[in-house]
Amino acid sequence: MIDINGQVAFLTGAAEGLGREIARELVAGGMRVALLDVQADKLHRLADGLRGGGADVFPVVVDLADAEATRVATEQALAHYGTPRVLIHNAAVLREVSMLDVTFDDWRREVDIILQAAFVLTKTVWSGMVEARSGSVVFLSSGSALFGFVKETAYTPGKHAQEGLMKVLAIEGKEHGIAVNTMSTGRPIDTPMSDSHYTDEMRIGIVPPDRLAPAFAFLAGIDADFATGQRFNAYQVSEAIRAARG
Ligand SMILES: NC(=O)c1ccc[n+]([C@@H]2O[C@H](COP(=O)([O-])OP(=O)(O)OC[C@H]3O[C@@H](n4cnc5c(N)ncnc54)[C@H](O)[C@@H]3O)[C@@H](O)[C@H]2O)c1
Repeated sequence: MIDINGQVAFLTGAAEGLGREIARELVAGGMRVALLDVQADKLHRLADGLRGGGADVFPVVVDLADAEATRVATEQALAHYGTPRVLIHNAAVLREVSMLDVTFDDWRREVDIILQAAFVLTKTVWSGMVEARSGSVVFLSSGSALFGFVKETAYTPGKHAQEGLMKVLAIEGKEHGIAVNTMSTGRPIDTPMSDSHYTDEMRIGIVPPDRLAPAFAFLAGIDADFATGQRFNAYQVSEAIRAARG
């Protein structure tokens, strides 16, 4: 385990929902954090608030559906902070549209935010992590990475494919000391995504997103010898951390 205090994190989807709580947790652990999101106002409000509390954060507004914009945004974060200790790709959108109604462009955009961005973000930081012989890469997973759900024509295949990318990168990263894992939420979380999509039944057991945040600070400090190629459960890891802290 590496002490994350003073280390660098790159985090996507930071402006609201789970990402915002992960940002707060990483900053509380002393990390310097590049915050990437498409929602400029919310992102800058978060950054201003965190800076007001003494944090070192670097907001970058980017549409992660755009591969070149994603590469450029990641390069900006690299120029500002250097190679991160952890990359957390948390951003995603969920649209429920049947095969009859989905357009190719809308399908492609949703898959690109999940999968293409996971590739481009990781590709851009990978050589630096290899050189550092250290790093942790985390992609946000979901039940949709294992099972199919009604009308998730893009989200489910995107999350499945992200698991595949994780498994391949874990093999390649191991000899370089880079951990690559996915993190499922383990519970539905009370965020804008679930507000707009979840039925009452799907909200059973829902928890506030800050309950899951400790798991991400934990994965920020691991290396490949500790765990790689795994699918973690953020709720369980966070509960275990809370129990260990007493
Ligand atoms: N909400 C749940 O119950 C749940 C369950 C399982 C998995 N997840 C996963 O957890 C992660 C976070 O989910 P959430 O509920 O906080 O989602 P959310 O919709 O509440 O927040 C997503 C964030 O990603 C950002 N984002 C969306 N599109 C973007 C783009 N094109 N470019 C840059 N940023 C973009 C949004 O602006 C927002 O800040 C996602 O990967 C999601 O798939 C959520």
